[in-house]
Amino acid sequence: MAGSILKSWVLSSAEGGESLIRVGRGISGAEELVPPHHRNVAVLTQPSVASVAKELADEATTGTAGNVHVVVLPDGDAAKDMGVVADIYERLNRFGFTRDDLVVAVGGGALTDTAGFIAATYLRGVTVTYLSTTLLGAVDAAIGGKTGVNVGGKNLAGVFRHPSRVVVDLDILDNLPRRLLCEGAAEAVKAGFIAEPTIVAAYEAQGLDAPLDVVVPEAIGVKVRTVEADFREGGLRAILNYGHTIGHAVELAAGISHGEAVAIGMVAAGRISESVLGFAEAARQRDIIAGIGLPVSAPGDLDAAEVIRLIHRDKKRDAGGLRMVLLESLGRPVLQYVGEDLVQLGLREIGVGKS
Ligand code: GLY
Repeated sequence: MAGSILKSWVLSSAEGGESLIRVGRGISGAEELVPPHHRNVAVLTQPSVASVAKELADEATTGTAGNVHVVVLPDGDAAKDMGVVADIYERLNRFGFTRDDLVVAVGGGALTDTAGFIAATYLRGVTVTYLSTTLLGAVDAAIGGKTGVNVGGKNLAGVFRHPSRVVVDLDILDNLPRRLLCEGAAEAVKAGFIAEPTIVAAYEAQGLDAPLDVVVPEAIGVKVRTVEADFREGGLRAILNYGHTIGHAVELAAGISHGEAVAIGMVAAGRISESVLGFAEAARQRDIIAGIGLPVSAPGDLDAAEVIRLIHRDKKRDAGGLRMVLLESLGRPVLQYVGEDLVQLGLREIGVGKS
């Protein structure tokens, strides 16, 4: 069955190459993901979507591709490991991979981050295409060319390099469990608050049932425009970290998911924005996040001093102090240094520390 493309973009950066990004329905086949004339194709995937990858590999085998190998990496962050990377390098070597061959990544953000890193470094770079199978991957991780693996800290080894294609098939995302839809909705609603009121309105009206046909293309559009302006995060790209400074510390301290942590981090950043910049929509933002089914306060009795220590350990601190993304109004983010008193204010808003 022929698929339909809802929207496409070409995202190119002087150093990082070029991505053709497509969102549609019924477009997860070899025609989109396996451009012709590669002697070897390695489809890297994860257990939860291995059947999607195998279907794609079967289709590629009957098409123009040569030898198609499916390799299953662990689910989630267990894939972002140098031991896993070394194992895949060895397999590519055994497959007789050359620089003209192709890696196809089928999975969520952790899988595409790892596959992108492998493709960027094996033989100093082979072509890679992504089929992003989670909402979080589709609206954030797969777009913009950040690849990375964890070595002691999160994403401490990585390169900036665009995959040559990114395909997001909404027919696949329709079947995601609510937990993964919630996780991705946090990044989508973040894109809304920093740059796209349409997304905010969709989640406000329908909570987690906001139509993917609206929120996914709009959120990818925000990411594409931001990365186009600042590929290597010299300035503007940092706005994508809205909710991440406090969120990331809570994620580490409480062991919750990234999406939940970003949601909580946005509530804290919203309160700080209200205090410093007169942001008038902090309460609305909180209600929308709660309406999606995401948390608006941190779990349990987190120790404020420990959360503050984790915030200061984060890479978002520079010689001038801690810089956070705050909102002047919906769609108007600013990067601003914040002092300890404001951090404490944000933490109290999410139930960390004395109120
Ligand atoms: N996830 C943030 C970025 O891609 O810059």
